[in-house]
Amino acid sequence: MKGEVIKLFNRIWKSLPDALFIAPLSSLCQKYLSRYYKRLFFEQWNRSNKPHWYDHRIDLYRWPNHLNPNWTERGIYSKEVMFPGCKVLDIGCGDGFYARFFYATTASHIDCIDIEQEAIDHARRYHCHPNIRYFKLDAVKEDFPEKEYDVICLDSSIGHLSSEQIDILVHKIREAMGKSGVFTGSEVCETPDNQSWDHQIALASEEELQQLLGKYFSHVFTLYLESPGRQNVYFRCGEDKRRLMPWNGGKSFKSE
Ligand SMILES: C[S@@+](CC[C@H](N)C(=O)[O-])C[C@H]1O[C@@H](n2cnc3c(N)ncnc32)[C@H](O)[C@@H]1O
Repeated sequence: MKGEVIKLFNRIWKSLPDALFIAPLSSLCQKYLSRYYKRLFFEQWNRSNKPHWYDHRIDLYRWPNHLNPNWTERGIYSKEVMFPGCKVLDIGCGDGFYARFFYATTASHIDCIDIEQEAIDHARRYHCHPNIRYFKLDAVKEDFPEKEYDVICLDSSIGHLSSEQIDILVHKIREAMGKSGVFTGSEVCETPDNQSWDHQIALASEEELQQLLGKYFSHVFTLYLESPGRQNVYFRCGEDKRRLMPWNGGKSFKSE
């Protein structure tokens, strides 16, 4: 009798995956996630104290609806200049999504810093990884967690700073990346009359960003990309040109 019960249990146990993992249920789960993150987006961006950072899980789970891959670009382009075992600093990391989903499988050590406690709490909760440390820290006023990094990322954060703060920060970045490091990132193009509510400066064009970064680095490569509702400029700068991989269709500034 006991043997029969065990056999029956084993049969049920073995057929369970076929019953559970079915295409209609996976479609339903996908629809559920999409609706869940649509609602979360609405909640996060319709409150009076809007966040200064974006929860990129919304991009991920709403992708089947918005069909816009532009949110992957910053992660891919920064990962391109990383190498196995490298040390990365992500300044203004926001939700920590890019460190976890793009950099953590290449870099062996990633320090993510953000001035907002809410962003750091979120990042620690949803995007923790053995290779990543999160710090609540003002990148302009406080020391970076370590003295040297191979790659330093700054995505969608330049506009959050004043010209004076950018000057202080980029000097610190240059110091921390030395002669062989790479400074990589992106910024949205805006005009002063069409500027994000929480931006202190508006960079109107690829050329403006090149001029800004060209004050600090011998080599500046940029790539301008348009996608629905957004114009982004990607950049990578440094002193060692061999460490910077220019883009096909991109521009170089002060580089030849
Ligand atoms: C638009 S978010 C970008 C977040 C993330 N890099 C991304 O690409 O999704 C800009 C982030 O910069 C952070 N930030 C602004 N000023 C900062 C400072 N002085 N030090 C550190 N982080 C800062 C904000 O708190 C915010 O999380």
